[in-house]
Amino acid sequence: MELPVIIVNFKAYESAVGEKAVELAKIHETVSRETGVTFAVCVQAVDLQAVVNAVSIPVFAQHIDPISFGSGTGHVLPEAVKAAGAYGTLLNHAERQIPENVIEESIKRAKELGIATVVCANTPEMGARLAKYNPDFIAVEPPELIGGEISVSTAQPEVVKKAVDLIGDGKVLVGAGVKNGEDVKIAIELGAVGVLLASGVTKAVDPYSVLKDLAKGIV
Ligand code: G3P
Repeated sequence: MELPVIIVNFKAYESAVGEKAVELAKIHETVSRETGVTFAVCVQAVDLQAVVNAVSIPVFAQHIDPISFGSGTGHVLPEAVKAAGAYGTLLNHAERQIPENVIEESIKRAKELGIATVVCANTPEMGARLAKYNPDFIAVEPPELIGGEISVSTAQPEVVKKAVDLIGDGKVLVGAGVKNGEDVKIAIELGAVGVLLASGVTKAVDPYSVLKDLAKGIV
């Protein structure tokens, strides 16, 4: 996956599940083709296969559980995520937090299967702590800004800077409240290799225009 990247987390937004997930992912693919900017989407486990079949941009699962074949009812089996063609998975999102030992184990399982990992952290310090498990990316998102109108880039640029200082180059994504190209630009200028966002796109009346604008932060 070429960096920088804009990862859009579909979460459980009505505009972004089932057939709508497929349609929204296709818009991301179109904008990626038109702008040359890397876009990835992060979808519900049940939508993974359909979205992977419909687009060629990277598709992430929102979560995996560190289980293996066999028992494990209701868990997200890493092998099933791999079989669906996912590029990677989020782990420990603020809305789906898991204990540190489970994060470690999940990263291990993902690595065995060649699934990229984006581990979320509420603070730069927590991100630095989780870096020892060597995920591919660490997404730092101040929880109080998630789903809000003000972006981490503009409200808390020091968080982005600190994350890059503590975690190092090439690994840090930032998110929470990211809505436009300016937010993306600031994050990249401060050393992040990408952004993670949701509501700016999933709640947009015209997601195509929002995605085009986000891309302007990179090209
Ligand atoms: O996973 C991305 C996320 O938590 C940020 O959400 O709606 O603030 O872009 P949002």
